Amino acid sequence: MEIPAELEARIDEEITHYPVSKRSAALPLLHLIQEHFGYIQDDAIGWIARKLGLEPINVLELVTFYPMLRREPAGKHHIRVCRTLSCAMAGSYELLDTFCKHARIDRHHNGHGTHILKSEDGKYSIEFVECLASCGFGPVCMINDDFYEAVAQDEVPQLLEKYQ
Ligand code: FES
Repeated sequence: MEIPAELEARIDEEITHYPVSKRSAALPLLHLIQEHFGYIQDDAIGWIARKLGLEPINVLELVTFYPMLRREPAGKHHIRVCRTLSCAMAGSYELLDTFCKHARIDRHHNGHGTHILKSEDGKYSIEFVECLASCGFGPVCMINDDFYEAVAQDEVPQLLEKYQ
């Protein structure tokens, strides 16, 4: 992984915002890395840890905890569907199936795991995530950074239309 000078300058500047505890800079740095590369590569975890004087596990635990951070490249538009209890009961498994159908994603390629599934053309990717903090309004999903509550299955084609 090559960190371009411009990105490293942004990272160094970000670290200055956390003079008391460099550890607090780990999450913003992960966002900068993901914004630049599209995902968090394994060697980025060690790189950030060295930069902040931490152990790689301190950075890895953030990556595995926060659903918005991903360790695999996503499609051009990335869909996250909450599968935690309230959303599951409100139909999130069916919703993910419907997204897959309309986005031409092979739903059964990886089963119900947390892996990112992608359409053949790379336009869409999808994954299940844990609670997105809107449990009373399920099923909840995100497309890129946009948040959608109480998504009905028949809204899916229209939603995808917005992301070309
Ligand atoms: S259970 Fe889906 S947002 Fe909390």
